[in-house]
Amino acid sequence: MNKRADTSVSLHPLIAERWSPRAFDNNALIPGEDLAAIFEAARWAPSAFNAQPWKFVIGLRGDEKFTEISSVLSDFNKQWAPFASALVLVNALTLREDGKTNPTALYDTGLSVSLLTVEANHRGYDVHQMSGFDNAAAKSKFALDDGAEPVACLAIGKRTSPDSLSDEIKAREIAPRTRKALSEIVNITW
Ligand SMILES: Cc1cc2nc3c(=O)[nH]c(=O)nc-3n(C[C@H](O)[C@H](O)[C@H](O)COP(=O)(O)O)c2cc1C
Repeated sequence: MNKRADTSVSLHPLIAERWSPRAFDNNALIPGEDLAAIFEAARWAPSAFNAQPWKFVIGLRGDEKFTEISSVLSDFNKQWAPFASALVLVNALTLREDGKTNPTALYDTGLSVSLLTVEANHRGYDVHQMSGFDNAAAKSKFALDDGAEPVACLAIGKRTSPDSLSDEIKAREIAPRTRKALSEIVNITW
């Protein structure tokens, strides 16, 4: 299914063709080399003072971490995300080494996920980010460092036919992608 963005000017296909599917092929696996590349991309994201304030817990379908991450998802996300090949808990490290708050930790962590998404798409995988999960349960399950805040979960895998979804989720899957007008998010015109 093609859900290419309807853009006012031509964009790189990795940007225009990225979207967030919910129908994942539950037979697909991500070979180690691809996984390594996806997280290398995250590793090389820019961050304020090069603090790199992110940490990822990765579960691969069938392993214990995958089951644990599945268990903290919202009921809605539990319906589709466990069909993905990998589930990832994304954590922002909100404390600097001197113990003070890092005000850009969330921004930097989002950037790292953005880059891993591009590398994943380039290698033929899709990424679906989720804020629908139990933050407190994630914290207690994964015994994270002080200041580590779970900010999102990711489903990564190969998308498949929307027919594999329930009617309600399929309707969302096939709906057109929409965005605010460019003029709503910038202050000049071209
Ligand atoms: C931080 C974040 C949290 C999200 N949380 C959820 C979620 O919990 N469940 C879900 O089905 N989609 C979730 N989404 C996906 C968004 O709904 C989706 O990105 C948005 O509708 C735009 O669609 P597109 O990514 O296909 O362009 C989330 C996306 C982001 C970036």
